[in-house]
Amino acid sequence: MAPATAHRSESMRAFLAIVTLVVMAVAAPTMAAQKVELSIDASKPGAKVDRNLFGQFAEHLGHGIYDGIWVGSDSTIPNTRGIRNDVVAALKAIQVPNVRWPGGCFADEYHWRDGIGPQRAVRLNPNWGGVIEPNTFGTHEFMDFIDQIGSAAYVSVNLGSGSPKEAADWLEYMTAAQATTLEKERAANGHPAPYKVAWLGLGNESWDCGGNMTPEYYLDRMKIFSHFVRNYNPAQTEQNQMLKIAVGPGGGEQRWTDWTETVMKAYQQHTWSWDISGLSMHSYTVVKWPPAFKSVGFGEDEYAQILKATLEMDDLIKKHSAIMDKYDPQKKVALVVDEWGGWYGPLPGSNPGFLVQQNSLRDAILAALNINIFARHADRVRGANIAQMINVLQAMILTDHEKMVLTPTYYVYKMYVPFQDSTFVPVTFDAGSYKHGDFALPRVDAMAAKSKDGKLWVEITNVDPKQAAEVELNVSGINVKSASGETLTAPKVDSVNTFEAPNSVVPKPISAKAQGGKLILQLEPKSVTVVSVEQ
Ligand code: AHR
Repeated sequence: MAPATAHRSESMRAFLAIVTLVVMAVAAPTMAAQKVELSIDASKPGAKVDRNLFGQFAEHLGHGIYDGIWVGSDSTIPNTRGIRNDVVAALKAIQVPNVRWPGGCFADEYHWRDGIGPQRAVRLNPNWGGVIEPNTFGTHEFMDFIDQIGSAAYVSVNLGSGSPKEAADWLEYMTAAQATTLEKERAANGHPAPYKVAWLGLGNESWDCGGNMTPEYYLDRMKIFSHFVRNYNPAQTEQNQMLKIAVGPGGGEQRWTDWTETVMKAYQQHTWSWDISGLSMHSYTVVKWPPAFKSVGFGEDEYAQILKATLEMDDLIKKHSAIMDKYDPQKKVALVVDEWGGWYGPLPGSNPGFLVQQNSLRDAILAALNINIFARHADRVRGANIAQMINVLQAMILTDHEKMVLTPTYYVYKMYVPFQDSTFVPVTFDAGSYKHGDFALPRVDAMAAKSKDGKLWVEITNVDPKQAAEVELNVSGINVKSASGETLTAPKVDSVNTFEAPNSVVPKPISAKAQGGKLILQLEPKSVTVVSVEQ
């Protein structure tokens, strides 16, 4: 019986393969593929593409924390100490380097004592829908979560409505190893060993929801926090010291350039008593506030317009990097784009304060374009946190009670894992131009890097939604034999994954063998492709 069954399933597979080929041939784009030559010089390595460019942001906002991460240990949803197992498994697979928490605007109203111990303070969340904040997810739960996913803590302290003493006490509570009152309290609450805090956010958007401060007022306050909010973890005194990230700009206008000037000028003259390791920058792809573009159910107009807008990230980084270069030519202070992503109108029927949106193929392309921009500025941009990890804005994961779906953006992060802590390698190409209505943008984008194990990886985004790309890969000094990896595309620019159809936008394998000394990759329209190159 067994061989006959095997034979029948082989014939069936062959039949299905032919049907698939015929369907593909019928559905294949009729336009000739655009030819693109990519030249890679692996002998000219650039900056390290810091794994922290792939950071995440999890705010107490909508269902980002509650339902998204935290379901409580008595939930019927499989969990470990209250934290969803499905979400943990999915996040482990994308090797999240750090998670920024608890906000966002929420951070400047967060009082850490509300979220520790057996009795939690129930408060309101005025920024995000005015809903009840039960504080059942607090310091210990966050640290447990990042431990479960194998990540690092980026904690933003309350510089707006909190005091330096409150923030200093929180850090002592989390990191002290000696038997202080706060250390004992942490141990009594279940964690005798000190926690590590890898990154410390000194406020959030202090020019707006964080207290509407002038740059000068912020600077005075930030110096006090920088000095007094100490990390006592013995494992972080010499090596792995906590990075302190000051609030930086939120755009390119003079108000923001003045902010960067003020903080960086002061940094140049800073004394032993205060320091920063990074300047944050927030930049969402919005086109116009309030965000109104649809996250699903849109066409090529909105596709082209949003992607054109997202490319402004490059100029924004250049503008603020130039100011930073004036005061910090050695690039000691990192530019950390710790909030970015597509921000669209809320999904109909959702609480507008919960910032719920779908996540489409357009978001996957938007993510790839931005990551490539960060990588090209890797000497200065050494951190970035997409907003936000689960159920909020450009999320990796959407949940609905027991259901979970991975978004197209999630798959981009998965495909880019080899680029974490890789070494940038310059790529030259003529991108050509994709034009739609009034919008013209580069038809293709690409980046290359050597991963930690020395392998060469190449990413190519075909922005054009109609025309395929035929990419010829030339790596100087190397006789390239083959390339293989994954490509992500879908039938429509607004294709999404839903709970009912979770696999509409998922990566599929792609490979090419060199012929006549040439390696040619056929890339579908509107696609993101990552391959490793074999020689
Ligand atoms: O990510 C949503 C909000 O956007 C954050 O709370 C705030 O920092 C920014 O304005």
